[in-house]
Amino acid sequence: MRDELVWWKTAVFYQVYPRSYLDTTGNGIGDLQGIKQKIPYLKQTLGIDAIWISPFYPSPMMDFGYDVSDYTDVDPIFGSLEDFDQLLSTAHQVGIRVILDMVPNHSSDQHAWFLESCSSLENPKRDWYVWSDPKPNGSPPNNWLSVFGGSAWELDLTTAQYYLHSFLKEQPDLNWRNPDVQEAMFEIVRFWLERGVDGFRIDVAHYLMKDPALRDNPLNPSGRKSIHKPLGEYDTQQHLYDKGHPDIHQVYRDFRHLLDDYSINQPRMSMGEIHIFEWKEWSSYYGKQLDEIHLPLNFSLLGAGWEADEIRVLVEELEQNLPEGAWPNYVLGNHDDRRILSRYGADQARTAAMLLLTLRGTPIIYYGDEIGMADVDIPPEKRLDPAGIRQSIQARDPNRTPMQWLDAPWAGFSDPETEDLWLPQANNYREINVEKQLENPRSMLSLYQALISIRKTHPVLQSGSYQTIPDAPPGCYLYLRESQQQRILVALNFTAVDCLIESPNVKKGKILLSTYCDRNNSLSGSCNLRPYEGILILL
Ligand code: NOJ
Repeated sequence: MRDELVWWKTAVFYQVYPRSYLDTTGNGIGDLQGIKQKIPYLKQTLGIDAIWISPFYPSPMMDFGYDVSDYTDVDPIFGSLEDFDQLLSTAHQVGIRVILDMVPNHSSDQHAWFLESCSSLENPKRDWYVWSDPKPNGSPPNNWLSVFGGSAWELDLTTAQYYLHSFLKEQPDLNWRNPDVQEAMFEIVRFWLERGVDGFRIDVAHYLMKDPALRDNPLNPSGRKSIHKPLGEYDTQQHLYDKGHPDIHQVYRDFRHLLDDYSINQPRMSMGEIHIFEWKEWSSYYGKQLDEIHLPLNFSLLGAGWEADEIRVLVEELEQNLPEGAWPNYVLGNHDDRRILSRYGADQARTAAMLLLTLRGTPIIYYGDEIGMADVDIPPEKRLDPAGIRQSIQARDPNRTPMQWLDAPWAGFSDPETEDLWLPQANNYREINVEKQLENPRSMLSLYQALISIRKTHPVLQSGSYQTIPDAPPGCYLYLRESQQQRILVALNFTAVDCLIESPNVKKGKILLSTYCDRNNSLSGSCNLRPYEGILILL
């Protein structure tokens, strides 16, 4: 396969949050066998090419799997290594690639490495984590903050030193400046590559390397938010020293070598979770020679308002800032952010689906968005996300609720006899579920199916160029996808009123799809877009 068409560029990705996909054991928590059972849905019904599975490794679940206590096994809640092998082979049989979540910045505080590291100052694993002496007055070594609230340092009473935790105190940061740590992590990567996985999504990829002198972060005088979320304590600092030190690029060059070594017969790939909103710095993670992360994840749209010009500008900025030869990608939802439908509204979520699946670059769909799942209001006594409970960031339980498959007890997510689910299910499951939406040619699911299918049957949407159509009517966003063989115009109305598109381009086109799923005809002049309507026009 020519590199420019390597599979991860043309693939539609889908994120599975394993706790919430399908429970086959009746414990109210999804599992690997559940994902395996839904491979036909993903392949035949939706047309997905690759799944990224959030962590399923043994974990005390303080951060629901992002606190790993053993990187080369499966938590019994989710099944076993054998279940994983079965899932992988079932997915591969139908051509679905499988991406694992790699959590290299921190382990669980229950990981054997950390337990050893804590045991004494002399322990050989002491330097595997980031330890530092208190200041003379006993306070933490510097002013760094945890993303989840409070100081990023926790005092270990036994050894009288502080350890660093960029997230929960139960998630101590590993010391990537120690070559043994890198080697141990790469050995884990090899373990999964040998089993046949197609790549990794790297958790907080830009956090691995910190300032070796542990300097204080300067304050953030403008109060400008550093991540697209409500301002919090974390945003009171400029995070100059607690992450993203330039030494990180060597780590990703080494990591890329490792992946490349395993890519002769099976091209592997990496996606990096990188919350950086300064384009040049973000794009540096592709590597100067495109020799680092294949797809630094692009979260710019996650923080955008529902405004045509704002979204257009973000797309144009991405296109302008991509290094030569680098491949773009778009994320509209994930397990950390409010769902598309809850951010924008039900009609808007349909337009957003068309946007995601017609832009130039790899689209990544979050499970449940394809049926228009909304954030679920979780009563205080049922809230589980420690990050939310500790009040530092918006709770993430509402966007992690169980998938809605059927109009049946527990919406087909779990056995009817199951006592309770790990998180409450949405009340709307009788209407909003896969089975019901398959019967309705205008449902959200039918729209996603059509968009994915058109993307596959029109290669211009996978690999054609992107160009903004200038002078769109206010509130509309128009762009052209073009290859030598085909041209498709995408016209999106972001407003609640009709909007007339008179671009000369539209004159002789054929409508391939409307987000209303109700028209399929030729155009002979202008085109009236209904509220929030998006259309694809084959020119
Ligand atoms: C990013 C993950 O997406 C999030 O869910 C997790 O809490 C943090 N990293 C810490 O691992």
